[in-house]
Amino acid sequence: MRKLYAVEDVSLERDVFGIHFRNPIGMAAGFDRNGEIFSQLGAMGFGFVEIGTVTPEPQNGNPKPRMFRLDDDHAIMNRIGLSSKGLEYAVSKLRHNSGDVVIGCNIGKNSATEPCDAPHDYLRVFRNLYQYVDYFSVNVSYNTSFKQYVPRTRESIISILEPLFDFRRGQNQYRPILLKISPDLTDEDIDMMTDIMVDTPLDGIVATNGSARHTGLVTDPQTLKRYGSGAVSGQPLTKRSIEVVRRVYQRSNGTYPIIGVGGIMTPEDAKAMLDAGATLVQVYTGFVYNGPSFVGNICKHLLS
Ligand SMILES: Cc1cc2nc3c(=O)[nH]c(=O)nc-3n(C[C@H](O)[C@H](O)[C@H](O)COP(=O)(O)O)c2cc1C
Repeated sequence: MRKLYAVEDVSLERDVFGIHFRNPIGMAAGFDRNGEIFSQLGAMGFGFVEIGTVTPEPQNGNPKPRMFRLDDDHAIMNRIGLSSKGLEYAVSKLRHNSGDVVIGCNIGKNSATEPCDAPHDYLRVFRNLYQYVDYFSVNVSYNTSFKQYVPRTRESIISILEPLFDFRRGQNQYRPILLKISPDLTDEDIDMMTDIMVDTPLDGIVATNGSARHTGLVTDPQTLKRYGSGAVSGQPLTKRSIEVVRRVYQRSNGTYPIIGVGGIMTPEDAKAMLDAGATLVQVYTGFVYNGPSFVGNICKHLLS
């Protein structure tokens, strides 16, 4: 597969937060939810794979159907609701990691955990997976679980991050911690998230997750009504996610790594995301629509 799909060139390589990346294109969270196929994705040419969201205990997520293709919009709508086989299962898979692709882990809380106990859930996944992955992404963005939990205030986000920083201080190995944010935030909220990054040992931001907004879609309203609620990803997100990345980049004076994700459907979109200030880029819906040659095509475009 590597011979067929992977495009390799030294000028694609990146060194970001102390990690060496073969190329700047990664698979976004939600595709390899339980750490089962990161090697295969690496062989398809991805420079990194963000597994998860991993929750401490296994949970089923929402009833099916819960994922819908919006072909006319080049989009996907999902309300999977953080289905996860739990951290023990993820550890059993990551033990077989041969280290040929950079692995990030997106972490979250169980739906049944009360918001006041959320920091404990995040810490549990972080601590147990610390030795097995290269970086962490803390999911505080749009959450499609039935019992939605989206921490929005500075205090609630810092209460999740502080225990992670404390644990990391006691370790020999350094694992970067990033915050994954929603495209539905107001500009003030984006600035608040950026300021958290500047004021704390947070290493970077992943922008953005899917959007809860269904405005501007061309899929007919009857179909949308039948499908119901969910996070929209893909083309409807392109402009907004690039905007969010540019805002974070400008407010932090370009001094922090940003993973740009959301609506990267063409190699040109990936280039625009990098030009807006992203250090690395992730794709999900674009990979679903374009197939396995997508990563190689982006890499070739970046080389041209
Ligand atoms: C079916 C599906 C499931 C997803 N699950 C997760 C998840 O568990 N955790 C998370 O942080 N993001 C999740 N995402 C969001 C993606 O990681 C990404 O942020 C979003 O889809 C925007 O990128 P895209 O337009 O390239 O798809 C999911 C996306 C899709 C389409």
